[in-house]
Amino acid sequence: MQELQAKILTKHSDRYAGETLLVRSPGRVNLIGEHTDYNNGFVLPAAIDKAIILALSKNSDNLIRLNSADMEPGYFETPVLKSYKKTGVHWADYIIGVVDELQKDGFHTGGFDCTFGGDIPIGAGLSSSAALEGGVAFGLARLFDFDLSLLALTKIAQRAENNFVGVQCGIMDQFASLHGEKDRVIKLDCRSLDYELYPFQWDHTRVLLCDTKVRRTLAGSEYNIRRRQCEEGVAIINKSDPSVRSLRDVTFHQLESHKDKMDAVVYRRCRYVLEENQRVTDACTMLLENDLAGFGQKMYQSHYGLRDDYEVSCRELDILVEAAEQIDGVLGARMMGGGFGGCTINLVLDNTLEDTIRQIQTYYHEKTGKEPGFHIVQIGQGTHLVTELADDTKSS
Ligand code: GLA
Repeated sequence: MQELQAKILTKHSDRYAGETLLVRSPGRVNLIGEHTDYNNGFVLPAAIDKAIILALSKNSDNLIRLNSADMEPGYFETPVLKSYKKTGVHWADYIIGVVDELQKDGFHTGGFDCTFGGDIPIGAGLSSSAALEGGVAFGLARLFDFDLSLLALTKIAQRAENNFVGVQCGIMDQFASLHGEKDRVIKLDCRSLDYELYPFQWDHTRVLLCDTKVRRTLAGSEYNIRRRQCEEGVAIINKSDPSVRSLRDVTFHQLESHKDKMDAVVYRRCRYVLEENQRVTDACTMLLENDLAGFGQKMYQSHYGLRDDYEVSCRELDILVEAAEQIDGVLGARMMGGGFGGCTINLVLDNTLEDTIRQIQTYYHEKTGKEPGFHIVQIGQGTHLVTELADDTKSS
């Protein structure tokens, strides 16, 4: 990680003068609570030790000059404007989207230069885009002295994705990236935005991500279709109980009593969300009791719900979970994130890690003819100035 920081800083200062801020903004995992955030439910994400590093400095040229260390084209620039349109450069939209949303809230940046790069695999469901948005929001607030709380920055980063990039994501990814803490998972109530941190560090258990290498973008219509189906369910129940605004307000009893009025698919989507919210709460209790075996079972149940009722899995994800089910050292596994590709998240006993990887690799290859990817991740600190946490970053 230090090497990456040095590389970004050198690339930036070779080109630009002026005082430079270095920001580290992490990707995230989600232990359990999938497709619940935009239904005002519960999620249990955490920031990880893979991140984007951004170097930022002011300029007096009234220009925004952006440099990507890893993506093509490597450069984009625009004058500072009153409002912005899509840039035509995919990665630049995430940054200019944040600038645009900051301005909507009355926070105007002057000219600035930005250089960034990172080690979060792109499109793998680890929220590299939320890391970039959150990192830019956080960095610009520091650079231009904007008085904005972490929560305000989270909402600006999410709005950049919703309004500028055009993905109707919930708040989980940006929240986790900005609020993460080392060795803690975040139980976030997406209705109140209150959150609690739960310890998540064991000597004997590791978090292993298995990557299908299947890449599907969330902008794909399926994500938005799921949102609409949930809203349809809410609208039906709302007719008899106007206090119901989201699936979070719906009880199992209420859902059952409206089943006949609902399309069968809509009913299944809603039931999944109610069950998943319950699973997050149960899983958190298990964490406090150190019951990782029980926690792992909840992860499997989450996957089955996503596969059978919410229907956002895919064959490759199912095969990775199937492989995990057969291995004693795996306590739990499930698809993670929006679905239709990306990674599974697995809780694995440390002393079986190598064997587990080998077995999953063999099984996946037998069934698909393809090679999966593997990432062992640690739960890390949320977005921060690198200088502020010099000691912390040394170990990451
Ligand atoms: C994506 C979105 C999140 C969330 C997950 C599904 O990661 O960005 O807001 O909806 O999918 O849980």
